Formats: sequence, C-alpha cells, structure tokens
Amino acid sequence: TATLRSLADARGIYFGCAVDNDEITNSSLAALAGTQCGLTTPGNAMKWFATEPTQGVFSYTLANEILAFATANNMKVRGHTLVWYSQLAPWVTDGVWTNETLTAVMVNHITNVVGYFKGKVIHWDVVNEAFNDDGTFRNTTFYQHIGEAYIPIAFNAARAADPDVKLFINDYNLEYDAKATAMANLVTKLRAQGVPIDGIGSQGHLVVGSLPSTVASNLALLASTGVEVAITELDIRAPTPISATDLAQQAADYTTVVNACLAVSSCVGIETWGISDAFSWIPSVFSGYGDALPYDADFQPKAAREAIAAAL
Ligand code: XIL
Repeated sequence: TATLRSLADARGIYFGCAVDNDEITNSSLAALAGTQCGLTTPGNAMKWFATEPTQGVFSYTLANEILAFATANNMKVRGHTLVWYSQLAPWVTDGVWTNETLTAVMVNHITNVVGYFKGKVIHWDVVNEAFNDDGTFRNTTFYQHIGEAYIPIAFNAARAADPDVKLFINDYNLEYDAKATAMANLVTKLRAQGVPIDGIGSQGHLVVGSLPSTVASNLALLASTGVEVAITELDIRAPTPISATDLAQQAADYTTVVNACLAVSSCVGIETWGISDAFSWIPSVFSGYGDALPYDADFQPKAAREAIAAAL
C-alpha cells in the first residue's frame, strides 16, 4: 500500500509527523515514521529550554539527533519553535527584564538558533501561540516587556539569520472564528509593513466529533492573507479507550482536515503531532483523552490512517 508521504507528494504537499528523542530510539516508531512521513519536527528538541538552557550557552545535541534521523530517512524538517511562552528556559521566565534587555536576549536566541540550522530546516515556527482564544494577545513574558512589537522584531531577526527559510507564525484553535480572524488581521498588517512572514501554521489539536463547521473556511481565511498555510500539529483526541463509534468519527474528522488543506492552493502540508498512539502528548495533558493519532499503540493503522490516505 502507498505510504502517506508518497500520496501527499503526489498531491504536491507533504505529510509529516513530529518525533521526539525518546521515540526515535524505539525501532517500531522509527520505522513507521521514517516510512510514512516525508517531514518531521522535533517535538521538544528545538525549544528554548533545550537550545539555550543557560544564557548565551547553546546546545544542539538533542536537535541534531532528530536531524540525523530525518537525514537517514530522507525527511524534511520544520524548526519548532523560537519564541513561545511555554517551555522557556527558567532564566528567561524568571529573569528581571526591560524592553531593551529582553529584546536583546530574544534576538540573540533567534540569531544563534536560526543561524545554526540554516539550510537544515525548511520552516521555522518563529512565534508560537501569541493569541488568546478571543483573539487578544496572550500576556506572555515577551508581550509584557516588549509589547506587540516582539512579533515583528522576532521575524526580522529570523530573516536576518537565514534569508531562505520560510518563517511561520503558529497557533491552535485557528479553526475558530475569533482566533483565525485575529491571526489573519495581524499577518495582513505586518506584511503591509514589510515584516517577513511567509506562513501561518494551524496546529490542529482537535477533539473527535467536536470539529467546528468552520475548519475549511478559516483555513481559507488564513490563506487569503497571501502567505502559505500548513496544518502543523494535527491530532484528534478521544476519551480512552477509544470506542468503535469514535474510531469512525475520528476518521471522518481527519478527512475534514485533510480536505480543508487540499481545498486551499497555498496549503503546503499536513503534519500530525506524533504518528502512533504509543507516543503522544495528549494523555499527560488532557486527562482521560488519547488515541489521537493515525496509528494505534501497536503501530497498526487505524480508520483515521485509511481516511487520510483516501483523502490524499
Ligand atoms: C508538546 C510536546 O509534545 C510535549 O512532549 C511537551 O511536554 C509539551 O509540548 N503545542 C505546541 C507543541 O506547539 O510544542 C506542544 O508540544 C503541543 C502543543
């Protein structure tokens, strides 16, 4: 049977899956991801806590493990993520900053990390989760000290460090009107100012049977800003253990998301946040939920996997 990556390639998009360092040492997971996924993203290894654990001391050991896995399997890589309020190094979160000092810290971080991975990643999630669900700006460490300007400053620093990599802003709940509208308005405004934003990532952390009717229309709204769009962290969680009804509904929900991407000419790809239910962030964060991915915990294809293949 055709792999998801080959089916996506034939449609001119990628199919990817995130992997983490403790996953690629599992031979079943590694074989599955390497076979089915034409692109990957380190689940954690490129986050600030991992890449600059101490101010000015950069560490790429974990990220390089993922890059070696990607190279061995001929996979492209998305870089994730440069500026995010979560999984920051404690020295950033707990630091005493002014606008000027935190801006210098943020620009130095971006300059080093983007420079190090120049030519090795095709995308960067430059800014992650900048919005609240109501479309207002999330009151993060960066927003508190720098204000909204942290976003264009971050994109300009990333562009200066790598003129070729595509620069994305990434968030969740972009299937919903309030956040999608805020995102589209921000990207339109910043692009009019010449800020180098190349894409919008829609994470796609969804719940079986609860997709809003606006999945496709809001992806199209994001694309109407003129930048690329991508589904970056798709998973569709269910109460565990997943029922037969939910397995079928999950397949239908994956179809909805894949079709939303295929309906937009500037949608460049679809990536799931993991590939097998054996390794997923969902159960530890959403109590009682899981089974969110296309392959089950025994690395066997679920109805969702067949639905993705059929839609592609
Ligand atoms: C998750 C990782 O998968 C977990 O291992 C980690 O403990 C928490 O972060 N949105 C994002 C991702 O942008 O970076 C998050 O990844 C999931 C939600």
